[in-house]
Amino acid sequence: HSVIVRKLCRLYSSSVKMSLEQAKQVAAYRAVDEFVTNGCIFGVGSGSTVVYAVQRLAERVETENLKVTCVPTSFQAKQLIVKHNLTLGELDTSPVIDVTIDGADEVDSHMTLIKGGGGCLLQEKIVASCSKKLIVIADYTKDSVKLGDRYKKGIPIEVVPLAYVPIQKKIEAMYGGEVKLRKAVAKAGPVVTDNGNFILDWLFTNQDLDWDKVSNVIKMIPGVVETGLFVKMCHKAYFGQPEGNVVER
Ligand code: 5RP
Repeated sequence: HSVIVRKLCRLYSSSVKMSLEQAKQVAAYRAVDEFVTNGCIFGVGSGSTVVYAVQRLAERVETENLKVTCVPTSFQAKQLIVKHNLTLGELDTSPVIDVTIDGADEVDSHMTLIKGGGGCLLQEKIVASCSKKLIVIADYTKDSVKLGDRYKKGIPIEVVPLAYVPIQKKIEAMYGGEVKLRKAVAKAGPVVTDNGNFILDWLFTNQDLDWDKVSNVIKMIPGVVETGLFVKMCHKAYFGQPEGNVVER
């Protein structure tokens, strides 16, 4: 009896995983098909959903003979571009990006994003800020009303290593909640970003804050490099659904 239950549980969880992956893929394919055009400068986001976007881009570059210059938002994105033989660009030579397609950890009803689950928020925000359009691709679990409704790991904040403790204390004193140093595994050393910094994850408790203001206030603390709050930056979001359709926002 218990063997059958275990087998059913495994089957269920693998089918949930499948539908999540399928949801990421359909959102990514839709965004690439809608926004990538010949000759464009394209910002390549980071994370597992973006892998599908680059896959689709490579297919289109090959079959439609497109010329696209790809500007990465992370070491991971750069590796994806190189692996698919796409044209690698950089902000020095392509400071204006036509469209960036990136993932998100959560998108609220005002299109405010939490980003940085993969620790790439600084370069992601720089590239997004240089982009005419930022398009988010995500599975249905990221589609939210208020930040914190669905994403429970908090708001990532990239900080200069020597300042991480005072920054933790200052954010907790100002806004409450708990600010944790991100570690790859418990009791191990801190996660180090592509820029040699640490990541703090702020487990906030008040979901009704003015996120624009909060992000600016936190950024003024010496040692804070960037926050994972992306306010008024996202042009459009595509959420892949478990049934394989895409919801646009
Ligand atoms: C990395 C990010 C990612 O875009 C975000 O974490 C979403 O990732 P995934 O597509 O794997 O869910 O901000 O810093």
